[in-house]
Amino acid sequence: MKILIVGNGGREYSIGLAIAKENEHELFYMPGNGATDAFATNIEKMGYEELAAWAKENGIDLTIVGPEAPLVDGIVDIFKKEGLTIFGPSKEAARLEGSKVYMKNFLKKYDIPTARYIETDSIEDAYKFIDSMEKTPIVVKADGLCAGKGVIIAQTKEEAKKTVGEMLSGKAFGEAGKRVIVEEFLDGFELSMFAICDGKDFILLPAAQDHKRLLDGDKGPNTGGMGAYAPTPLVNDEIYQKVKERIIRPTLDGMQKEGAPFEGVLFIGLMIVDGEPLTLEFNVRFGDPECEILMPLMTSSVSDMFYKAATNRLGEIEVSFSDQYAVGVVMASANYPYKSSTPAEIIVDEIHHEELKNNTHIVYAGVERDEEGKLLATGGRVLLCIGLGESIKQARDRAYLLCGQVHFAGKQFRRDIAYQAIDQ
Ligand code: AMP
Ligand code: GLY
Repeated sequence: MKILIVGNGGREYSIGLAIAKENEHELFYMPGNGATDAFATNIEKMGYEELAAWAKENGIDLTIVGPEAPLVDGIVDIFKKEGLTIFGPSKEAARLEGSKVYMKNFLKKYDIPTARYIETDSIEDAYKFIDSMEKTPIVVKADGLCAGKGVIIAQTKEEAKKTVGEMLSGKAFGEAGKRVIVEEFLDGFELSMFAICDGKDFILLPAAQDHKRLLDGDKGPNTGGMGAYAPTPLVNDEIYQKVKERIIRPTLDGMQKEGAPFEGVLFIGLMIVDGEPLTLEFNVRFGDPECEILMPLMTSSVSDMFYKAATNRLGEIEVSFSDQYAVGVVMASANYPYKSSTPAEIIVDEIHHEELKNNTHIVYAGVERDEEGKLLATGGRVLLCIGLGESIKQARDRAYLLCGQVHFAGKQFRRDIAYQAIDQ
């Protein structure tokens, strides 16, 4: 097939790498990064209408969309109108991520477990709800997309009220905060689960855990994610079963009833409280860095899974996973997540050790190539060191050995990825 991947991060790189390994396809990226051109052709940035015309002209068989922004903007609708095959949700279905209010009201309507909440644009109603809450902390969320920053965990009722005031006035997040969710704080452990959906059927991938804070011990500011591992032993068959029956099945059925069948990746942010899975949030795309550790665990065809999902035929295939574990450690640039850093050359020492060579790889994200062909760290999250192993510890040790081979000025990374699975 001729396959086009939209995006330029580690998530998109890892999807392309998995497909490139099948040795059967011609791959393109819009726009890709400084390393995707090792196994694909990067095409220049263009608008979605123009991209659809390009895909038609060039006989693209399948387009896979990585990030949420093009999905929320309706890229899938534009491609489908042109008769193109594309993997991802429609603009309407992407509202599950684009609007937290839409998502929470959907969960309530279809009786899908989630935190108790109120959604409102009235400061009086929000205050009344806060006053009625028995426990703190209290969670306040802006309705719209805020690049992962629109969620505040308020330690006191006063702080919750102040946050609501700042959001509703537009001071904190502009238009995105003019409706808010106030909800109870769920005290449990957090997981990421991903279901590949074709509107009707789904395939659930192994559960992963992300590490959102910058520093070891879950300290420091929130980031896009500093590392992940899968599968996590924190989940047993009973939890998988509950997630399928109580969350994914009613979500797919509900979205059909809403006239917006869900096709694409349903990313379920879960909190497990006393063995019960509760939905924290939905995203309509793969997690980044979770995708980077799930792709190498797939032993069946990745391209076929996306193609069958995009053509509403998931029921025809079986998907299989390796019995290994994968750990991914993000290496970020010096000033991440605050501001950009001076571009720095990336040097990777040659790996002589066969075992390490065969069980590790680098996934490139925020990188560019200069005129001399040198690879430069230019983004916030620059790359990931991935390790595979028979145990989480072995996979983690390998990932960190690879980290030791990678150099660029100012690199920073966490030393404790997968601690929840290892230190239990
Ligand atoms: P969200 O974007 O809604 O997933 O929120 C971002 C992060 O805030 C989540 O990954 C959780 O760590 C945390 N969070 C959100 N809602 C809650 C909640 N109700 N209880 C506890 N933590 C929460
Ligand atoms: N790693 C979490 C996310 O992609 O939103």
